[in-house]
Amino acid sequence: MPKKATNPLADGLVEDEFIVSLKMSTYLVAVIVGNLANITKETNKVLVSVYAVPEKSGHTEYALDTAVKLIEFYQKYFNITYPLQQRLDDC
Ligand SMILES: *[C@@H]1O[C@H](CO)[C@@H](O)[C@H](O)[C@H]1NC(C)=O
Ligand SMILES: *[C@@H]1O[C@H](CO)[C@@H](O)[C@H](O)[C@H]1NC(C)=O
Repeated sequence: MPKKATNPLADGLVEDEFIVSLKMSTYLVAVIVGNLANITKETNKVLVSVYAVPEKSGHTEYALDTAVKLIEFYQKYFNITYPLQQRLDDC
């Protein structure tokens, strides 16, 4: 879900707060902490991102292109739009 706020904490740490997500199967959720870089594309108002460690981010374009094609295919095949909110201003 989109980030709602970033709050400064002690010692230079920050706390990111996100909008409450929809109910979903736990196998669809991942929490990953690390130094990651992303590439992102938008298709039919859906932001699609691929994350990798910065040294491998040059190898992520195929994954992004494939994910974008799959989302476009499934949206058309099932005739449904992506159900999750993408941006804070979509509230
Ligand atoms: C990474 O994703 C954010 C959205 O989550 C986007 O604003 C940013 O442009 C993306 N970076 C690149 C290099 O695509
Ligand atoms: C897709 O869904 C919309 C309504 O959400 C409907 O108007 C349209 O006829 C549907 N298209 C097909 C090909 O079923």
